[in-house]
Amino acid sequence: MTGDTTKEEIKIRPFWYSDIWIFPKLINIITTLDAEGRVNAAPYSFIMQYDVMSKNPRMILGFRQDSHTYLNICDTGEFVINCPSADYIEDMMETARFYPAGVNELEHTRFTMIPSRKVKPPSILECPQIAECTVEETYELPKSNGIVIGKIEAIVMDKGLKDLDRGERIKAMNLPLGLGDESRRYYYHSVNYDTVMHELADPPDAYRASDAVTSMEWDTDALQSLMQIPPGVRKLVTDQAESFAKEKGDERVTMARFTELAEDAGMDEEFLDRFRSKSDPRKRA
Ligand SMILES: Cc1cc2nc3c(=O)[nH]c(=O)nc-3n(C[C@H](O)[C@H](O)[C@H](O)COP(=O)(O)O)c2cc1C
Repeated sequence: MTGDTTKEEIKIRPFWYSDIWIFPKLINIITTLDAEGRVNAAPYSFIMQYDVMSKNPRMILGFRQDSHTYLNICDTGEFVINCPSADYIEDMMETARFYPAGVNELEHTRFTMIPSRKVKPPSILECPQIAECTVEETYELPKSNGIVIGKIEAIVMDKGLKDLDRGERIKAMNLPLGLGDESRRYYYHSVNYDTVMHELADPPDAYRASDAVTSMEWDTDALQSLMQIPPGVRKLVTDQAESFAKEKGDERVTMARFTELAEDAGMDEEFLDRFRSKSDPRKRA
């Protein structure tokens, strides 16, 4: 805060999103192969989760249309998202330099290539969190970005990380946050940041039937099961169940369909338990 809350309008210039807008983002190194099988690596931060369900987990990515990474992804349909820890920021920045096509940037860093499990481009050993992806769709926005929607074929992490609770996992991974650049030259990152945790507590009566907003008829037992779903994910489950029932040609959501969807989408007790508060009696110890 400057202490002065009077507002001023800022001119929107090219690269406004990094030069002026502060937009903290996860830094990722994408590894790809070109049509001749040569490795390419470069950092990208325009990457977000796109579909949260486990059946079809996807990421959406934004690229300059002429970057080697984008061209390779269009040519081969495969890429790997590697998240480096803050100990490797220098190496990550090295991969951002404008090397000619065919140069493997990783050879100019301390990173070690390892085989990926489900795709051909290599993964990076020193990255604690990795997503191996295939292309589902690409969009070319005129004179602008290339947008890629990638399907996650495998999530791979350093052994033991998944068993840590989130606070410990954040510390152990020590992922740098990208804070943007100035003039495409000076890149800012945040490392070893302090974290704050807030519990999003359920409102009073959160489990009441009236909280469920349904758009079609539900059988009583299916509705009762819906009420067991924690409020944080109940809307998502309602929408999924109704589309699933409609896809199958049903006019109402039956218990049989609801159970089929739950099994199909991996919504078992372990899934539901993750969204229950620590004080919920149904929470497993
Ligand atoms: C931290 C960081 C994040 C970046 N994020 C993106 C991005 O999301 N999209 C993009 O097109 N370029 C991004 N860049 C720029 C590319 O990494 C850079 O243009 C690189 O040279 C492209 O390499 P390639 O042609 O081998 O793919 C980023 C650079 C850095 C340093």
